[in-house]
Amino acid sequence: MSKDRVIRPAKGLSGAVRLPGDKSISHRYAMLGGIAAGDTRLKNYSTGADCASTLACMRALGVASEKDGESIVIHGGGAALKPPGAALDCGNSGSTIRMLSGILAGQNFTTVLSGDESLSRRPMARVIKPLEQMGAKVAASDGGRPPLRITGGKLHAIDYQMPVASAQVKTCLLFAGLYADGKTRIHEPIRTRDHGEVALRAFGVELNQAQGEVSIRGGQSLKGIDAVVPGDISSAAFFLCAAGLFPDSELVVNALLMNPTRARLLDVLISMGLEITVTELEEQHGELIGSLRVRGGKLKGGILAGADSAALIDEIPVLAAIAPYTENGIEFRDASELRVKESDRIVSIVSNLKKMGAIVEERPDGLSVPGKQKLHGAELDSFGDHRIAMAFAVAALRAEGETLIRDADAAVISYPEFFNTLEGLIQR
Ligand code: S3P
Repeated sequence: MSKDRVIRPAKGLSGAVRLPGDKSISHRYAMLGGIAAGDTRLKNYSTGADCASTLACMRALGVASEKDGESIVIHGGGAALKPPGAALDCGNSGSTIRMLSGILAGQNFTTVLSGDESLSRRPMARVIKPLEQMGAKVAASDGGRPPLRITGGKLHAIDYQMPVASAQVKTCLLFAGLYADGKTRIHEPIRTRDHGEVALRAFGVELNQAQGEVSIRGGQSLKGIDAVVPGDISSAAFFLCAAGLFPDSELVVNALLMNPTRARLLDVLISMGLEITVTELEEQHGELIGSLRVRGGKLKGGILAGADSAALIDEIPVLAAIAPYTENGIEFRDASELRVKESDRIVSIVSNLKKMGAIVEERPDGLSVPGKQKLHGAELDSFGDHRIAMAFAVAALRAEGETLIRDADAAVISYPEFFNTLEGLIQR
């Protein structure tokens, strides 16, 4: 059932927020908790449907979990999981199917992993190829798409140069490396988020990291943890960018993930003119958590390219949605990965911006959005993509007239509370 949303223009944004747990970390903690010895207790686990898919898959593999007050308790049973009775449903979640594949490649049974229509279009060859090199058997639909049928077993270590910069692939191979004889080495072309490495260490695994390379010795065992998942910075991005639309905005963001491989957004917004002060900073299980005070400003715009595009890949939809309101516009380059996300995000962004009356140029690897534009409300589509739904709710705040977002409910994938929280922060 799809649910549309009407967004009316706003005059400002003010208040304090604390975000539900980071999606990337929640997935990894849930999977590692499942193959660890003993219980893992997680507070502020992501409320998104994607992370619920991961827990459901783990349950189907014999890992019990339940809510206990504000926590989720995962009863880990060690490295060997149980054969599931049916195909695992990964829903919309690329993280679930790709990262879990690494664990399933090391199991002594066959698992089928499937997902929704969007997931069924997404490329899986990037995990299939290296997992096969490690000794797993993986069958897929045409073009290396889900469903995947993984027959696991004893794996051997490989030395692998990843052709695509992808933290999901890196994590998948680190997880598979736990089940391999010898030391698995992974080289990445561009530095990607390191939550896989940080989470493995938190569960007691030893890793070696050097410039662009991470290695893991197989056969190590994991111990359950007690953790609070830091607030999701990719969800906070919607409010930070909304604050950038109104010079008088005042926003406080508490207990936010500040991992340096994820916090590039803060530097970029500061360089564009947003005032951000870090008021608290601490480390928990290797992850940095901080509180921010944010003051609106006139955003200048700029060029996003190279390693920045990889680091900001999940934040580009909202940066593109506010780009027309910046002084100089924003040009996005080296971001062709956007085409294989939950939707072809370049097409989704360009189509919605045009419907709002914006001038925008689509490029094979990104888009260019001139600044100083006035947009009008329009009927937009989420393309079934959570980040597109939320990005255009933000764009709509500065448009003239109302905006209708079709299938805005897609936001439940990562941030079910988004529209309510946004309403609580905006001033009219
Ligand atoms: C993620 C990595 C990124 C990102 C996704 C989450 C992760 O995907 O877009 O939302 O948790 O590792 P890729 O690995 O495909 O770049």
